[in-house]
Amino acid sequence: MPTTEARPERTTSPVIVALDAPDEAPALRLAGRLDPSRCAVKVGKELFTAAGPGLVRALVARGFRVFLDLKFHDIPNTCAQACAAATRLGAWMLNVHASGGAAMMAAARRAVDDAAAAAGTAKPLLVAVTVLTSLGDDELAAIGVQGPAAAQALRLARLAQGAGLDGVVCSALEAAALRAACGPSFQLVTPGIRPPGSAAQDQARVATPQAALAAGADWLVVGRPITAAPDPAAALDAILATLGTTA
Ligand code: C5P
Repeated sequence: MPTTEARPERTTSPVIVALDAPDEAPALRLAGRLDPSRCAVKVGKELFTAAGPGLVRALVARGFRVFLDLKFHDIPNTCAQACAAATRLGAWMLNVHASGGAAMMAAARRAVDDAAAAAGTAKPLLVAVTVLTSLGDDELAAIGVQGPAAAQALRLARLAQGAGLDGVVCSALEAAALRAACGPSFQLVTPGIRPPGSAAQDQARVATPQAALAAGADWLVVGRPITAAPDPAAALDAILATLGTTA
């Protein structure tokens, strides 16, 4: 795919705040300190399992774009129905494992589009997880995947694109290669983001917000640098300021 096409113009804040809270009350307290016009929020497996769909509805009602990070991976029909349910819940972005295969991803795509059309709402972004960043080459070999993790991630990103998905979750350090391979409109969602000077904590491969966007990322998943800050809104503003944007 040509890489010289223009990137789509950005109209919203690229920051997705990971609401990695154990339950609804702390998640809503944290969300209450954030401005939904300045960030999206991510609800993952721990929070969703504890708090349930009501929390997602509450966040949507407060005006947040919600990335429902449940990484669905199942037979095509089951995965598709889960994606349809997430769409009806009002998710702005949701994800599946690309290793579930092309048929599973294509079924998810159809289900999301049909559910959004039936509800009369915008289609959520449907993205794929390629290779979990916790899996090294040795662990991949142990589950029967030969070759380096980066090659597998690229293979799965192409499979996701072929199945009609909007993009993938990837490390900022993989973003440039995926952007070159998958073209200007493929959405790259990058965790492992750390503002200049902040601690990497347990993230092994980190990039600054600016570096991630420069490498081709569309969306920056940021957790503790914002959620553990004394003033989360100020920490978010500081990140947006380094990007030369206020929204
Ligand atoms: O606090 P921190 O910024 O490290 O949080 C990053 C968020 O992104 C967490 O919710 C984490 O589970 C998620 N994530 C990640 N690396 C991946 C995929 C998701 O850090 N490869």
